[in-house]
Amino acid sequence: MAKLKDTERAIGLFDSGIGGLTVLECVQEILPAENLIYMADSAHAPYGDKTVEYICERSQHICDQLIDREVKAIVIACNTATAAAASFLREQYTLPIIAMEPGVKPALALSSSGVIGVLATVETAHSKQLDDLVKRYAGEQQVLIQACPGLVELIEAGESNSEKTRELLKHYLQPLLDAGVDTLVLGCSHYPLIHSQIQALVGEKIQLVETGAPVARELQRRLQKNNLLNNTKDPGQIKVLSSAPSAQLEVLFEQITGAKVLPERFE
Ligand code: DGL
Repeated sequence: MAKLKDTERAIGLFDSGIGGLTVLECVQEILPAENLIYMADSAHAPYGDKTVEYICERSQHICDQLIDREVKAIVIACNTATAAAASFLREQYTLPIIAMEPGVKPALALSSSGVIGVLATVETAHSKQLDDLVKRYAGEQQVLIQACPGLVELIEAGESNSEKTRELLKHYLQPLLDAGVDTLVLGCSHYPLIHSQIQALVGEKIQLVETGAPVARELQRRLQKNNLLNNTKDPGQIKVLSSAPSAQLEVLFEQITGAKVLPERFE
């Protein structure tokens, strides 16, 4: 088989499950010609209550498989894996690794009340990375961090619209509303999947900040800088791998891309 040109090599994206598809959607929107490989580690979700060592190990295992498939760049489409493993992964590999962090800086810029909230997994909420972001950008403004254990599991199980999810969300959102937040950061790539449920509970006046689009733009910049952009006119191919069967993954993939997918399994 003819060897692929560097620009034609795929971009690898990974997450603990389906959340990273919210990033893939943004990537596809601005880089439609790129070939993509998405790896969902659903057998090991959620990452948010695992140790840093465990997340580093899984992330490295996934990156090794992406590199075996000759990807030209990797997107960590997961805030938790970024907080736990991005520096570690960048020490292991030389290819561009694009990571995602909660949108604290844009949220602070949008806020009029000077009080913002960050919804995140337990691991991200307690991470040094988030603490550093707050120290760097908050100044006189207040950043309230709300860990949301249980939410990712409900989203993975297809329960985004259930009463259980609504109740859990109310429980996490009420203290933030009481404290006067006017801007909320969705600090986990799964949470854009329940954007409308969150908005309905907090009301239209509260702004929700997502980071899929900035991650896609950063990817574009990095590819451009490394002369790796695929400039063909044809739409790219998307391959999906999952470590566990997931009906949600198939449904969401079809919603996002309009195409059906039969994910390949990985260990
Ligand atoms: N989608 C993830 C994130 O952005 C991972 C959530 C989890 O597995 O706990 O944090």
